[in-house]
Amino acid sequence: MKEKIKDLQDKQSEARLGGGQARIDAQHKKGKLSARERVDLLMDNGSFQEIGMLVAHRSHDFDMQDQVFLGDGVITGYGTIGGRLVYVFSQDFTVFGGSLSETHAEKICKIMDLAIKNGAPVIGLNDSGGARIQEGVNSLGGYADIFYRNTLASGVIPQISAIMGPCAGGAVYSPAITDFTLMVEQTSYMFVTGPNVVKTVTNEEVTSEELGGAYTHATKSGVTHFTAANDLDAIAKIKKLMSYIPQNCEDKVPDLPYQMSDESRPALQPIMPENANQPYDMRHVIQGMMDPDSFFEVHELYAENIIVGFARLAGKSIGIVANQPMALAGVLDVQASVKGARFVRFCDCFNIPLLVLVDVPGFLPGTDQEWNGIISNGAKLLYAFSEATVPRVTLITRKAYGGAYDVMNSKHIGADLNFAWPSAEIAVMGAKGASEIIFKKEISNAADPAQKLLEKEQEYAEKFANPYRAAARGFIDEVILPEDSRKKIDRSFCISSE
Ligand code: HXC
Repeated sequence: MKEKIKDLQDKQSEARLGGGQARIDAQHKKGKLSARERVDLLMDNGSFQEIGMLVAHRSHDFDMQDQVFLGDGVITGYGTIGGRLVYVFSQDFTVFGGSLSETHAEKICKIMDLAIKNGAPVIGLNDSGGARIQEGVNSLGGYADIFYRNTLASGVIPQISAIMGPCAGGAVYSPAITDFTLMVEQTSYMFVTGPNVVKTVTNEEVTSEELGGAYTHATKSGVTHFTAANDLDAIAKIKKLMSYIPQNCEDKVPDLPYQMSDESRPALQPIMPENANQPYDMRHVIQGMMDPDSFFEVHELYAENIIVGFARLAGKSIGIVANQPMALAGVLDVQASVKGARFVRFCDCFNIPLLVLVDVPGFLPGTDQEWNGIISNGAKLLYAFSEATVPRVTLITRKAYGGAYDVMNSKHIGADLNFAWPSAEIAVMGAKGASEIIFKKEISNAADPAQKLLEKEQEYAEKFANPYRAAARGFIDEVILPEDSRKKIDRSFCISSE
């Protein structure tokens, strides 16, 4: 028996070394942690249980039978984060560059199946040269098996992808189906085809970093929701994200202990500028209302005219969607609509109440927007809000103009409670634009057209640039003081979630 135990222990030690110490050292030299180090940091101390440690590939082409690494380039298993069950896979770049073989894919599929069955999130730590080239179609089939499970799991259990090395070719589609993607700066990239193919096909010269680095995908494509300075930061951000989301679509996020929410927040009042055309940072409104340091922004650098993210309100996890007057005056465009819609749908799937903060001058006009489908993309946001069954509360801080008023979680599309600050302006459009259209003749026939326009603008503003018409119709449930916003919104969530 002793020999047999020794044999097992040797095998386990061999598996723990992956592709060997030299390759682990090379990984460290690049500023990357090893696949095992990442798992150890991610999971609660000692909680990780590995599955499939001794799995080996079955390939015999290209003398592959002589190159067998136990575990086959991916560490899979389960454990806890903050005491809650999580399934994880972590690709090991030291084994054939973390490339995906048939057996490597089977290991990932096995934990995905368990996660779906047991209602727990899956976290994938990706660091892979893509399909195992020596295995051909077996590897492609393995990818498709994963994509299929990603789709079946979507909306049922949360799925998070961290890109901590290369992620190229069709491999990018698994992270894209998952709920959240995080990329590590400088050491990770994602693209369908790399710089060489790009050069051949389009004659563009581009580096890997420019084409598909973390910053590119955080700012230009929106493919990644988060970036991290390094592996440690990435793991910390995943843990933080996990704290706002539930285990599955039938679960709720555990509340954090919090005393009274019945607090006045006087700092909210001076945020609103006197001049309605002056921008202000909507993040200050969010931070002013939420529990201290609890706002966790998603897609921070992409479509900055809309803010989405999680926060805690009196200990409860909520999702926030807010127009940002600091960027493009908070207008809704194609990118903002898609970003907002995706976030709303995530919150709706996973029982996270939504708070919507509105200061929106409308949808962005122009050929660029029309030709890129602002109609169908804007409709995605409208649809996402309309179908959401989680508690939904809206606060209009300033402008709510035109179609964007309807879309931004108005009473008409099913919001539970709608509030407005006294500074709210709820109208078809701004006073100037409106006056120029409806008083066109009167203005052009006036002795002093500019003066006439000003008069008409004032007249229109007095009538419509306020929340009281909407309140009179019941489209706004209450006009509230900024400093009371926290307690009003907290109470409204208590009522609407009961
Ligand atoms: C098998 C691979 C591999 C792969 C890397 N390796 N990629 N083995 N299949 N796809 C091996 C290398 O042979 C090497 O083995 C080790 O991993 C490390 O690779 P290096 O090239 O030395 O590392 P580095 O210089 O850091 O470059 C990493 C890399 C590069 C950029 C990922 O290896 C690379 O370009 N690989 C090929 C990427 C690729 O074209 N993949 C297929 C994409 S298509 P040794 O023994 O020397 O340590 C695809 C289709 C999926 O994925 C479709 C799904 C639908």
